[in-house]
Parts: sequence; structure tokens; C-alpha cells
Amino acid sequence: MSTFIIAIDGPAASGKSTVSRRVAAALHWVHVDSGSLYRGVTWKLLRDGLSCRDEQVVMKMLMSLRMEFFLVDGGIRFMIDGEDPGMKIRSEQVAEQVSVVAAMPCVRAWIGERLRSMLRFGSLAMEGRDIGTVVFPDAPFKFFLNATPEERARRRLGDLSGAEGTPSFSKVKTSLLRRDALDSERAAAPLARAADARVIDTTGLSIDDVVAQIVNAVRKTEPRSLVYRICRFLLKVWLVLWCRFESRGEQQVPPAGGCILASNHASFLDPPLVGCNLAHRFIRFMARDTLFRNPVFSWWGMRVGVVMLDRTKGDIGAMKAALAVLKAGGILCLFPEGTRTRDGELQPPKGGIGFLIAKARVPVVPVYVDGSFRAFPRGARWVQPRKITVHYGAPLYPDAWSEMTGSKDGYERIAALVMERISVLERKARGMPAKTSPPPPIIASMMKSCENACIPARDHYS
Ligand code: DC
Repeated sequence: MSTFIIAIDGPAASGKSTVSRRVAAALHWVHVDSGSLYRGVTWKLLRDGLSCRDEQVVMKMLMSLRMEFFLVDGGIRFMIDGEDPGMKIRSEQVAEQVSVVAAMPCVRAWIGERLRSMLRFGSLAMEGRDIGTVVFPDAPFKFFLNATPEERARRRLGDLSGAEGTPSFSKVKTSLLRRDALDSERAAAPLARAADARVIDTTGLSIDDVVAQIVNAVRKTEPRSLVYRICRFLLKVWLVLWCRFESRGEQQVPPAGGCILASNHASFLDPPLVGCNLAHRFIRFMARDTLFRNPVFSWWGMRVGVVMLDRTKGDIGAMKAALAVLKAGGILCLFPEGTRTRDGELQPPKGGIGFLIAKARVPVVPVYVDGSFRAFPRGARWVQPRKITVHYGAPLYPDAWSEMTGSKDGYERIAALVMERISVLERKARGMPAKTSPPPPIIASMMKSCENACIPARDHYS
């Protein structure tokens, strides 16, 4: 599994939704609200006037149901038989029936399969009731959020306040307990804590506290190397003093999980430049092992993140080494052009990089290093004191190339897509007008409905 998964389970109003959305945003991972799929199926049954209690009817409907998924604003949205249900899945009618529908084994199997397929979008922060127990029992990070019934009822009441006919506190509490009972007592995949999940009682904790606990647990898995940190610090001091080095957009780089940094290549300075300002990550680079034959060099190389390649094994060996780093949740810096530019201009990418990106299924952050060619181009003996700025762009997620995999031509298109994103950064850095293409119509309309809909606010529990 080259992508990472955080399973966040818990009862209603335990804080899962807000927390998982915020965790996903903090890590630049994809947020999946699994409950929305159960709600979507329930909405469709109601919309078509079908029974939500007759399993045969539900099974028949599922056989012809088409649910398509899209990544919108860092979260998964879907269309059902070509229609975007939007906020209708949050209606009272759907809420009343969804527990019954979600208890049916055929529905759970159908939705479970689709939830597992979301790995194609990249690393996931998925919330639900059975994510750590049934959907992804091997997820490396599992959390179970809980809170006292009183606290949960207070939060739910807070969400509903202002709406017409707001129910009383005791009614809300009773309804929550009823849903807990339905979700926990059903035979198929009941609400349960995975034995290896970390329980967080969110009663009295702020959202920031809970989010920080989860994000820190994930970030802790990043390998640490004192040698790397010392070298990075010294190099940075020198680059800042000598080349007025600075960077823009480094917050675009996911703080944890597999990720590729795809940079233009103009100079031997590029690898350290790309990693210099990313204090939160241990950037890995690929290099020929022949450069590190000396045992002291080899020791140093491994500690500063060099992935040594045995050139006798050719490109396959390099590919395997790169995938191993990414599968372990590491971050790898690659140069799609393959070699340093001779004239300072961007060069066409190598197709092989597209193959690697397709196989790795991790976000790709485009990077443009501006100034390294002027400071230390091919053939130069000394580094000139020229201004260098590193620009990090918004990550590209695996769904951006999901249609392009499987052929040589497709891999070349993936490589070209990444190179195009680097050239967008170049144009921006040079003050040239951007050539951006609008999002596909479906995504544009979903983005619009996201803006208009009363999506639960991000700064309170929901
Ligand atoms: O989280 P929510 O309230 O949107 O969930 C809607 C329903 O779906 C709720 O009754 C629990 C059920 N559900 C489930 O059974 N398994 C999941 N993984 C997610 C939700």
C-alpha cells in the first residue's frame, strides 16, 4: 500500500467529521466521509420511492446503481446515477432511515468496496463507524473518538441551534443514544473500536487539541536523522547568506505520507535547495552508488537521505528503490527532466517518471527552482552569489492521472502534466501570465454547490 490511511471511527457527534476534515487538510490528504455514502444510497432509495427496509429491493437497486467519485476541495464528493445529491443527503428524512439501510450486509459490502477503491485518490483520512475494523483493518493509523452523551448532545444542539423547531436537549440526547444503539447492535460491521485504535475522549478538548494529537502521531513516523538536520541547517545558513535563498509555498508539501517533489533541474545545487526549507520532512534523493564507494561517504549519504542506486540493475532497480521509499510513507525528490539544463530553459520530461508516478499513487508537488542556473550551472567551478528562490506548487493528486495509466503514451502524458505544472510555477516566478485551464464542468458545479451548501463549519464539532 503506497498510500496511507487514517481511520477515524466513533459514534455520532463525537467530533469525527470536523476532526477528520481538519486532519486531512493539515496533512494534504484526502478526506472521506464514509457516512455520506450510506446517506447517498438512502437518499436514492427515498428519491425513487423504494422501500428502505426491504433488503431484496435495496439489493436490486444497488445492482444497477452508478456512484462516481470526484475529488473536490480535498474531499470526496459523488454523483449518483449522474446526479449530485448535494446537501439533500443531510435531510431529516434521510437521517431517519439511514441506520436501517446501513445495517444491511449487502449495502455494507457494496459501500465497503467503493471505500477501498478510494485509495486511487492517494492517502486518506476516512471517518466512519467500521473503518479501522472492517474497511481498512490494516490501516497504520486508527483512532476512535468518543465523548460523553451529554457533551455530544450539546454539540448536536449547537449545530441545530437557530434552525426552526430546534428540539430539546433531552430529545437530542435520546435520539443520539438510539442511533448509537442501532449502529452498535447491528449484526453487520457494528460501530466498534478496533483493538489497536487509539481512543481519544474529546469531552472538554478543543478541536485543535484533537487534530494536533492525530497529526503528531502521523508525523512521528517520519524518519529522523541528526546528520541530515545538521547538514540542512548549515547549508541553509550558507545559501541564505550567499545566494539570498528563500522559498515560497512550502506549506503545500504534505507534512506526512508518501509524496514526490518533482523539480526542474538546472544545477547540482537543486537537491539541497529543494529540501532546505522543508524542516518537517526527511527528503530522500536518488544517486548512483558509485558516487558513495568510500565508506565515510556511504555512511554520510545514507544519513542525508540518499537512496543509492545500483546502476548495474538499470532503471528497474531505480524504480523499485523509489517505490519502496514512497510506500513507506517517505518523500522523494525527483527531476523529471532527467538531467541538468544546458541553457537555463525547461526541458521535456522523461516518460519513465510518468510510470513511477502512476505506480506510486502519491501526491506530486511541482517545484520550480529559480536562480540555481545563474548561481551554479553546468561546468561552473564556483557558486556565484546569485539570488535563488524555490517555489512549491499545489499538489497533484492521483485522480489527476487515473485515466492516463496503463500505456506508454499515458505515462508520457503524466510526465508532461507534471512538467506543465512546473512551467506554471516558472511563469509565475518570472511574472508571466499563467495559462490555466478551468476545472471540468462537473467539478466546477460541485465546487459551486460546496460554496452554497451549508457544509458544517470547520471550526466547531459536528
Ligand atoms: O456519520 P453519519 O451520521 O453521516 O452516518 C450516517 C449513517 O451511516 C449512520 O447511521 C451510521 C452509518 N455509517 C456506518 O454504518 N458505517 C460507516 N462507516 C459510516 C456511517
